[in-house]
Parts: sequence; structure tokens; C-alpha cells
Amino acid sequence: MALIFVTRKIPEVGLRWMREGGHEVVVSEKDGVLTTDELKAELAARPYDGVVSLLTDTINMDILSVAPSVKIVANYAVGFNNIAVQELAEQGIVVTNTPGVLTDTVAEYAVSLILAVAKRIPEADRYTRAGKYQGWAPELLLGSDLKNKTLGIVGAGRIGSGVAKRLADGFGMRVRYYDIARSEALEAAVACEYCESLDELLAHADVVSIHVPLLPQTKHLINAERLAMMKPTAYLVNTSRGPVVDEAALVEALTNRTIRAAGLDVFEDEPALAAGLCELENVILTPHIASGSEETRGRMSELVGYNINEFFLGHELPNKVEVA
Ligand code: GLV
Ligand code: GLV
Repeated sequence: MALIFVTRKIPEVGLRWMREGGHEVVVSEKDGVLTTDELKAELAARPYDGVVSLLTDTINMDILSVAPSVKIVANYAVGFNNIAVQELAEQGIVVTNTPGVLTDTVAEYAVSLILAVAKRIPEADRYTRAGKYQGWAPELLLGSDLKNKTLGIVGAGRIGSGVAKRLADGFGMRVRYYDIARSEALEAAVACEYCESLDELLAHADVVSIHVPLLPQTKHLINAERLAMMKPTAYLVNTSRGPVVDEAALVEALTNRTIRAAGLDVFEDEPALAAGLCELENVILTPHIASGSEETRGRMSELVGYNINEFFLGHELPNKVEVA
């Protein structure tokens, strides 16, 4: 039996699976993100063997120094930029994530944001609610079509590929993609063109959708210079991690109409927003909910429970995060 600390309440199913696996599970009682000091105090309180963390928890060896028996950190997210994976690996601590189960949900969400931005749906809703609708007009709130336009996918992993497939098959978009390597899986699934450089992709795309993990190399991948390479009619959508886009530079670009509009589900310093972002009409802002369907948040909980149970049974861990 292992003793597991869960940093915040997640859907019950995974907690139940861990308990059924014979483990004692302690869930933080705070309805919010634990501060570093609170997390350390919790971890020091009992001899925990494992931790279930969220993407809002920073996990490194400083924090785990108070909990020397912890052997696994199971992150309730596919992204794991909140965890110092290398540092933990050096101490023999295993890290797992929740890939796969959220792919379709996040891909659906990215497509939804792309449609909402191109069709100006939230803006039209604000307009109508404000009582501004005085009758049908030929040039009221005109948006863009997606058919035959070029979708630029940045990051051809599972989610990026899912977005490409949906928009190519369902909406007749042409697909170009950029990644550090070609993706045979994407090329087999969708007619698409590989761009050797991000700059080339940005110059051609009508919609740019970002699906890369946050790494030192991807921080501010989309900066002022890159925004200036995009078409003035282009849309930028980010459902990956906020710091991939230089948010202050994006505010500038949206204000000056360097690009037409953007849809953001993630922010550089979330939950804070860059100065000026909220005042812009040509951006849609949502609070990091791309994987937030009832079904998927439950499946992520199951996967966390599975990862913990398998680890303590000494089994192979398919969702172990490998050190780069
Ligand atoms: C959500 O952002 C995740 O990484 O699962
Ligand atoms: C994440 O699951 C990805 O591979 O895109």
C-alpha cells in the first residue's frame, strides 16, 4: 500500500481506482492552487510515496526535498512543463502524464476556437446583447470562409494532427505543417505539405494553430518578428501553452492589425492577462478549458489512477515522461 497526496480535487473516478488499488489517498482540502509553502507543509505532514499534481503546481526537487519517500509524480495533464523532469529523474523519481485521452477533446476545442474567431461569434453575441442589432445588413460583422484557405499547423503531434484532419476533411482547408521533423502519421492521414521552416509556414497560412509543448526552445516561438511575417488577414489560435506566444507582442499585432484576430485558451502568465488584451475586440479569450469536457476530465482522472496503480505494482509505465 502506498500513501498518495493529490494537490487538488480531481474527478472522483481516479481517486476511487487508487483506493481500490489498495492505496491511501489524501486530497488537498483547499479549493485552489496550493502555494509553494502550503504544498511543502502538506507533503511534509506524512510520509507520502506518490503525488498527483496539476499543471498549476510547480514541482521540483526543492519542493520534494521535504518528502524524501516520494517515488512518483503523476501529472493530471498531458503537458508537463510545470515539472522539473530532469531534476526529478536524477533522484530516481518517475513522472507520468495523461496523453491520448484528451487528444480529440482538445482538437475539437481548437477547431471551435478557429470557427469562433473566423466567424466572429463572440463579438456578434456581444453586439446583439448590447442592443445594437437594428436589422439585417449586407456588411454586418463579416467573417471569413475556411474552405480552400490554408491551415498552418505548428506541431504535428496527436492534437495538431487531429485539428488538421478535422479541418481538412470537414471544412476543405488546405494543410501545411511545421515541426522539427516530418510526421509520417499526419502525411498518411491528411493531404498536407511540410514546411521546412516556421517562417515559411507563417507566410502562407490563413489560420495558424499552435500545438507544441512548452520547452526552452518553444518559449516565444511566436514573437513580434514572426507575427510580422503572418498575413494581415490571418488568424492565430493557441491551445497549447501561453508562453509559446509573446503575449505583449500579440497585443501590439492585434491592435495594429498586423494580423486580423486571435483565439487564446492559454496565457503567458495565467491567470493574469497581458495589458490591453481584454480591451481588444479581435481576440477571443477562454480560461484554459480545451481539455475540459466532462468525459475527458474523467478519463484523465482514470489515467492518473492507472499510472499510480501500475507504478506501485512494478509494471511498465506507458505514460512515463522520458527525459529529453
Ligand atoms: C492541459 O493543458 C494539459 O496539458 O493537459
Ligand atoms: C499531445 O498529446 C500531442 O501529442 O499533441
